[in-house]
Amino acid sequence: MGRNLIMLGTAILVVSLLAIIIIGFLSGMSNPVPWIALLILVVVVLLHNKLVKRNYLSWKDSYSVGIESIDSDHKKLIHLINNLQTAIDYKTDKQFEQQTLAEVIDYTKYHFQREEDLMEKNKYADFVSHKAQHEIMIEKVTTLARGYENDESGAIEALLMYLKSWLINHINHTDQEYSGFLLSKGVK
Ligand code: FEO
Repeated sequence: MGRNLIMLGTAILVVSLLAIIIIGFLSGMSNPVPWIALLILVVVVLLHNKLVKRNYLSWKDSYSVGIESIDSDHKKLIHLINNLQTAIDYKTDKQFEQQTLAEVIDYTKYHFQREEDLMEKNKYADFVSHKAQHEIMIEKVTTLARGYENDESGAIEALLMYLKSWLINHINHTDQEYSGFLLSKGVK
């Protein structure tokens, strides 16, 4: 079932339950129907919040590479990607969606450059292959962003999925690999 259909179904269910609750309570507080509807509404809202929360990334201490500026960049990227998730979940206007997408791409480029400068300056042995991963990622994101012009909703959801899985995998593995080396060079 598509995301839009789920959201529409949830909205209809909530409105129907609210109507049952209001009409039910108007007919008397001893009527069990509005109480049951209220209970169902609470469960629906809790489940919805849980499902929505599952779509958002959150920072974990295990993601840390021990370098303050890099951890700060990674946290900011998680925040920006979550903004993109919000843009999709709450059907914000196209301008916000485009602006959020541009922010994610711009900050990713800024972060990669900062990281590459640190690796190059300290003569990190795997600098070239790490940089190549960054370049492949930017190329993929640029291609997906181009698709946004033709299929806004499909492209942005594909982009978001890619960004989320790529970022967490990259900071959890590839970025962790330089951590010990850069820390031994005195980078903080
Ligand atoms: Fe933090 Fe290699 O990107």
